[in-house]
Amino acid sequence: MKILMVCLGNICRSPLAEGILQARADALGLGWQIDSAGTGAWHTGEQPDPRSQAVARRYGIDISSQRARQFKEGDFDRFDLIFAMDQSNHDNIVRLARSKTDREKVHLIMQFTDGDVRDVPDPYWDDQGFEQVYQMLNKACDRLLEKTAQGV
Ligand code: 4NP
Repeated sequence: MKILMVCLGNICRSPLAEGILQARADALGLGWQIDSAGTGAWHTGEQPDPRSQAVARRYGIDISSQRARQFKEGDFDRFDLIFAMDQSNHDNIVRLARSKTDREKVHLIMQFTDGDVRDVPDPYWDDQGFEQVYQMLNKACDRLLEKTAQGV
C-alpha cells in the first residue's frame, strides 16, 4: 500500500501524518510506503516545522529527514490512497484529478473517526495547536489501520 498525506505547506500537518502512519505500519510489518506533500510550494525543500518535529519526537517518532514538496499530477499514479488534512486541501487535489480513478483515491484523513470534526486545523499560527493535531492524526491513523485490517 502506498499512501500520500497532503496539507497546504507540507511542513506542519502532513509530515506528522506521514511519520505517525509510517511508524505504525512499520511496527506492524505491513511494508507500506507513506509520503506527504503540500498543495502549495512555498516551503519546498524545507524540513518539517520545528514544532511538528518536537511533538513527533515527544512520541518517539523522528520526522527530521522529511523535506517538503508540492503535490503533483503524477502522485495520482504513484499512490493507492491520498488523504487530505482538510476540505480545502481535498478540493485543491480533486481539481487536479484527470479521471474518476484519480478522484476516487482522494479522501479526508478524519473520515474514519467518530464525531463531526472533518478538518485537521492548521496549527501554523498557533503554537498550542500541535499537540491537538498530533492526537487527531494519531486517532485517524489508528482507525485507518483498523479499517484496512477489516478489508474496508
Ligand atoms: P501545513 O501548515 O499546511 O500544515 O503545513 C502550513 C504551513 C505554512 C503555511 C500554511 C500552512 N504558509 O502559509 O506558509
